[in-house]
This record gives sequence, C-alpha cells and structure tokens, in this order.
Amino acid sequence: SATPLLHGLHIAITAGPTREAIDPVRYLSNHSSGRMGFALAEAAVALGARVTLISGPVTLETPAGVERIDVVSALEMLAAAEQTAPHCDWFIGCAAVADYRLAQISEHKLKKQSDHGAMTLHLIENPDIIAAVAARPTPPWTIGFAAETRELAQYAGDKLRRKGLDMIAANDVTAPGLGFGAEENALTLYHHGEGAELVSHVLPTCHKRALAEALLRYAHDRYRAHQPR
Ligand code: PMT
Repeated sequence: SATPLLHGLHIAITAGPTREAIDPVRYLSNHSSGRMGFALAEAAVALGARVTLISGPVTLETPAGVERIDVVSALEMLAAAEQTAPHCDWFIGCAAVADYRLAQISEHKLKKQSDHGAMTLHLIENPDIIAAVAARPTPPWTIGFAAETRELAQYAGDKLRRKGLDMIAANDVTAPGLGFGAEENALTLYHHGEGAELVSHVLPTCHKRALAEALLRYAHDRYRAHQPR
C-alpha cells in the first residue's frame, strides 16, 4: 500500500489552556477544552506522523499512538516546547496560552479584605512559545492558531508575520457553536505566497477531527512546496 502522507515526520502539537496560579487554590485560565489540538494529534497519527502532544490541563484521553507531555502553566509549556522543538519537523501551536501570569504567586490563600470593595492583581507578560520556537536557528515548520473576535485576516496576518510563522489557522471565536469547547470548528488558513502577498484558504465548518485532517493535508502541500529539493 502507499506510504502514508505524513510518514517520517515528527510533529509537536500544543493543546488546551494554560493555568496561571494566583495562590494555592486559584488560577487564571480560559475556555480551551483541548479538543482542536487533540483532534490534530489523532489525525496526524492516522496520517503516519510521529506525534508529541504538549497538553495543558484538559479532561481528554490521549489518542492512541501519541506521546503526551502534561503541563500546567505557560512557563512549563515553554520548557516542554523547547525540549521538543529541536527534534521535530513541524510545530503546531493550538494551545490557548495565557498571555499574562501573576508577577508573584501567593504562598498562602489570599484573604478577602473586608474593608476593600476591590482587589488588584499584578500581571506580567508570558513568553511567546511559538514565536520562541520559530526563532530557533534551525526552526521546525511552524503552524500557529489565531483566536479572533473580529478582523480575522488582518489580525491573523499580523500574528503570522510578528511571530515568524509559516502558516496560521484563524478561527472566529464569536461564531456560535464553534471554537472554544465546541465539537465543531471552521478555520481560515493564511500563509505567504510566492511574493509577500497573504494567501488564504477556507476550511468550512465541520467536526474538529475532519477539520484537523483537512488542515494537515493542506499544510503538507505548503510544506512540500517550501522544502528545498
Ligand atoms: O481547545 P478547544 O476548546 O478545542 O478550542 C480550540 C481553540 C479555539 C483554543 C483553538 O482553535 C485556537 O484558536 N487556539 C489558539 C488560541 C489562542 O490563544 O490564540 P492567540 O491568538 O492568543 O495566539 C496566537 C498563537 O500564538 C497560537 O498559536 C498560540 O498557541 C500562540 N501563543 C500565544 C501566546 C503565547 N504566550 N505563546 C504562544 O505560543
């Protein structure tokens, strides 16, 4: 039988949210369920790739044949990504990484201050994981995601350039029934064409597993086109 499409490729995928501790009992996070990233992992294995899945805290089972590294915070996800990136051919950033973490994690549970009607948390920026991977001396081929609520093409195009990525998959996270936590999603893929122009390719609404396979097939065409022969 024919060689599977992604045979010989090692693909690292980040998935899920990160959790940024406030104190021993509280954290900052977001609504990512991990479904999109886990669907990519499952689809990539089915297409013959070796897959390392770097996952934030989610309740999903590891797809068969996938090597999984569990992390909690953005800093832990960065460490796992830096460990994996030198050995992989593609790096896909599907995780919803918290942009900020607490400047200082409280050692003890913060007490409610009964004389104040408000409370201020001091946040500092987290490192950009996929940008760090893309900035390596010999980077893997990188695919980012962009969760946007408006101006999809402009914001996704900005992220593609700013983070130095090869491709970005944008989702409109305001579309009802799609995106965060949902079974289905829709994506628009953006990458640079022969000139500097932005090329887009729409993957219409379907189940995340099927969408993941369509994304990987399109990405493989792009990857082949950009590889030196
Ligand atoms: O997990 P699900 O419930 O299935 O939902 C899927 C999803 C909506 C989370 C997914 O499809 C998605 O859009 N993931 C990216 C969400 C996001 O955080 O996008 P962003 O626009 O904030 O980040 C852009 C890119 O940079 C992403 O590839 C992200 O992984 C990466 N990033 C962001 C910040 C950071 N500090 N480090 C990063 O690597």
